[in-house]
This record gives sequence, C-alpha cells and structure tokens, in this order.
Amino acid sequence: MYWSGNSKIELEIKLLAMPKIKISFFEMKERWQREFFEKQLSPAGYVLQFNPGKLTVGNAGKYKASDAIVVFIHCKLDKKVLEKLTRLKLVATQSTGFDHIDLVAAKSRGVTVCNVPVYGENTVAEHSFALILSLSRKIVESANRTRAGKFGLEGLRGFDLKDKVIGVIGAGHIGRHVIRMAHGFEMKMLAYDPYPDKSLESHYPLKYVSLEKLLATSDVISLHAPYGQRTHHLINTKNIHLVKKGAILINTARGGLVETAALLAALKSGRLAAVGLDVLEEEGLISEDSGLVAGYLEREKLATALADHRLLTMKNVLVTPHNAFNSREAVLRIAATTVENIEAWKKGRSVNVVSG
Ligand SMILES: NC(=O)c1ccc[n+]([C@@H]2O[C@H](COP(=O)([O-])OP(=O)(O)OC[C@H]3O[C@@H](n4cnc5c(N)ncnc54)[C@H](O)[C@@H]3O)[C@@H](O)[C@H]2O)c1
Repeated sequence: MYWSGNSKIELEIKLLAMPKIKISFFEMKERWQREFFEKQLSPAGYVLQFNPGKLTVGNAGKYKASDAIVVFIHCKLDKKVLEKLTRLKLVATQSTGFDHIDLVAAKSRGVTVCNVPVYGENTVAEHSFALILSLSRKIVESANRTRAGKFGLEGLRGFDLKDKVIGVIGAGHIGRHVIRMAHGFEMKMLAYDPYPDKSLESHYPLKYVSLEKLLATSDVISLHAPYGQRTHHLINTKNIHLVKKGAILINTARGGLVETAALLAALKSGRLAAVGLDVLEEEGLISEDSGLVAGYLEREKLATALADHRLLTMKNVLVTPHNAFNSREAVLRIAATTVENIEAWKKGRSVNVVSG
C-alpha cells in the first residue's frame, strides 16, 4: 500500500496514541512459554504479564486492568471471578474444553471466549492408547517388578487387543483418531455419538450404536465426549450395570462424564476389570488442600474428591495427571493458536470463538 508522507505519520501517531492491550497469563510456569509469547506479541505492542499460578476469586482484583487473559483448565472462570475483571474483553483458553468458563456470565459482560479446538487430536488419542496398552499388558506392574529385581511372570498375563471390541463414546476430533489407531490393532469398533458422521462408517469397519449397546458389548470403553450439563455423569450408577463384565474403561476427556461412585462400585464388583484415567471428577480439589482444611468445600464435592483419592490407591486403576495433551508438538501448537486467536480478536475477526 502507498502512503503519502503525512498520512503515514498520522497513522503512526494514531497507533502510538492507542492504549496498549494488557494481557495477563495464568498457569504459565515454563520459561519457553513466556519467551514464545514475548517474541510473538510484545513487538505488536501488547503489554504482557505472566503468572505461574491460577486466577482465582481471591486474586482476581489484582488483574482488573487486564483487557485479555490467557488461562488453562485449572482457572475456574465463574461469574464472581469475571465480575472482578472490569476491563476484560477476551478470554483465550489454552485448551479445547471450555467447561471451566461460565460462558453465560462471560457473554453477559461482553467478554469473547476463544479456545484451541484442534492442536492434538492424535496427541490425546495416543495417550488413550498408552493407557489401554498399559492396562492390557500390565506395563506399570511389569516395570515396577523388574525395577525391584524380580523377573517372575506370575500375575502379569495380559490380553490381546486384536479382535476385541472398542467402544468410542464421542467420535469427534479425538475419538476418530482413537478409531484409526484401533483399526491398526485390528479391533472391532463401535461408536456412540448423538451426531454421527456417517462417512466414518464408510471409512472404517465401524458401527454407530446406542450408548446402552456400546456399554454392553465393548471390551474397551473410551470416552471422548465434551463435558457439560448434558453429558454430566453420562456413565452413572443407573447404567454402569450394563457394562460388559470384565471390560476396561478409559477416560481422557473429562472426569465429570463418569460418576465416581459408580466407577468405584464397578471396580469393586469386578464389572470393570481395570480403569485408565487422565481426568478425575474433582481433580482440581485434590491439589487444593487449603480448601479441605478450611472446610469451604461442598459436602458432595468433598465426597467425590475423597472417592478420587480412593481410586488413586487401587491396583487396577491407572491415573495420569491430566497429561494427555502434553506432548512437545502439541504444546507448541497450543501456544501458536493462542497467538492467532489474540491477533484475530484484536483485528475484530472471529477465530475459534466459542462465545461472544
Ligand atoms: N486430557 C486432555 O489433556 C484433553 C485434551 C484435549 C481434549 N480433552 C477433552 O476431550 C474432549 C473431546 O475433544 P474433541 O477435540 O474430540 O472434541 P470434539 O468436539 O471434536 O468431539 C466431541 C464429540 O463428542 C460428541 N458428543 C457430544 N455429546 C455427546 C454425548 N452426549 N455422548 C457422546 N458423544 C457426544 C460430539 O458430537 C463430537 O463428535 C474435549 O471436550 C475435552 O474435554 C482432554
């Protein structure tokens, strides 16, 4: 574009006069992340402020000058937190799921919320398979034994995945990568999804079935549905008895999809032989000892947190700490998309907007 000398100077003066956009980052513990965002955003005139900790109702007042915030899933952005951020116009969550953000409250305050819809469908699917294989071949127990110098095979017999039935609940971005991988293992495949994509059935020997049929027929059940009011306790005390006896259940989606009490009962009765979880129903509370001590937790949440603790101690339960997204490649893609989301919002474009 050609600028006459004067109009170019006028534009520069206008840009200089524009108030700088202040962005506060939370749960930003690693140096490379801070360097990445500095490099990408500071030259464009943003003012960045990094915090390793979470944004909470207790500290939100300190960040009331923020125009935008960048968060991860452990920052619970409810009405009370959002109310304290009086200048806030953008929430960029560095996650696919956005169930930690009250979208209604955000919308009513004119706050745009954007996410990172695709960064690691294969990444999370690979973690699901890591859990499946760890359970089917007793990898953790085997490795623990050899570390202790014991090389006996007693109790270490696993089972083949070939010809077993996998039931994928939620055949979206991640679920379809699980289906691709399961196909490679020559598993039989079922899916339950209220919005079936028929092209998947023509691509793979896959059948969409009801949730009930999936639970009753699958040897491996893998959850990949989003969490929300409609999917809260999708697997619960009323339907867990439908699960095929001896099946294994994998959850890398969200803890709230499965009622923890139902899970514990099914493990105790042997209906579920083993469980692999990257997510727990009240996982946020497990590290929040202060809440337990101060006694501010609701009774129900406390009971679930204690049940989560019980799960952690069971031999046939394998828990990873919400780590499925955490590959070198995926975290770089998350950071790059977050920059794109912020830049698009600044230019008034709607990119990866989930509300606003
Ligand atoms: N553990 C991790 O690190 C991690 C990382 C990324 C995503 N996740 C979780 O995985 C979930 C799935 O991610 P995605 O990218 O595949 O999402 P997606 O939106 O592409 O797919 C979700 C699928 O679930 C289906 N669905 C909706 N309601 C359902 C219901 N009641 N029962 C069954 N299926 C239903 C949708 O139709 C869709 O096909 C996310 O919502 C997020 O919570 C976890």
